[in-house]
Amino acid sequence: MSLSGKHIADIRKDYQLAVLDEQVAGDNPFAFFHKWFEDARNADAEEVNAMTLATANAAGKPHARIVLLKGLDDKGFVFFTNYNSEKGKDITENPYVSLVFFWKELERQVCIEGTAEKISEAESDEYFLSRPAGSRIGAWSSPQSTVIDSRDILEENYNKYTAQFGDNIPRPTHWGGYRIIPTSIEFWQGRSSRMHDRIIFTQNADGAWQKSRLAP
Ligand SMILES: Cc1cc2nc3c(=O)[nH]c(=O)nc-3n(C[C@H](O)[C@H](O)[C@H](O)COP(=O)(O)O)c2cc1C
Repeated sequence: MSLSGKHIADIRKDYQLAVLDEQVAGDNPFAFFHKWFEDARNADAEEVNAMTLATANAAGKPHARIVLLKGLDDKGFVFFTNYNSEKGKDITENPYVSLVFFWKELERQVCIEGTAEKISEAESDEYFLSRPAGSRIGAWSSPQSTVIDSRDILEENYNKYTAQFGDNIPRPTHWGGYRIIPTSIEFWQGRSSRMHDRIIFTQNADGAWQKSRLAP
């Protein structure tokens, strides 16, 4: 198969920018994630906080999409969405999720597995009120992931809620954050000849993190 005259199978890149070893990764995966996130910011990674979120429904049917990381503390990774969306329904049925960051500028990937739980209403309010007015009206206007007849419905909703709320736009109860509490965090550094470095932190039953190297 070819794309713009080049065979897709012939597209390849040899990764040579950096190495990752057990010592560099340290003992705290959150601290190491912070370091890699800052490295990616300093490398001007585009949409540095964009991450793929994979969910699955009760039957195990998977669904992946991009969301934005909006917070990180010593408990987990926070993003915001419509609780009635497809992802919201999946998480209600099955809290097990996975996150993937890809920072191509640094030839790095981070894969996270864990469980999703709603953050507190106060935390969601705080973030919602920090958003631009247009985004706040947008949260009211879009019945995310439902089929709509045309874009006109969105525009009508937008105008309706703008007139209804004026400058005082509250958070809809169906909109808020989730925190992904990780059970494993894997750091991947591309290396030459597909001999990549992979260091994974897995949480033991007692909460301690165990560090291992995975074959690429
Ligand atoms: C760069 C980028 C950032 C996005 N950020 C978010 C986000 O933070 N929250 C969100 O609900 N959707 C976000 N989306 C849209 C989602 O990918 C998705 O289309 C939407 O959430 C509906 O997903 P669902 O039907 O699987 O629930 C983003 C999309 C892109 C491409």
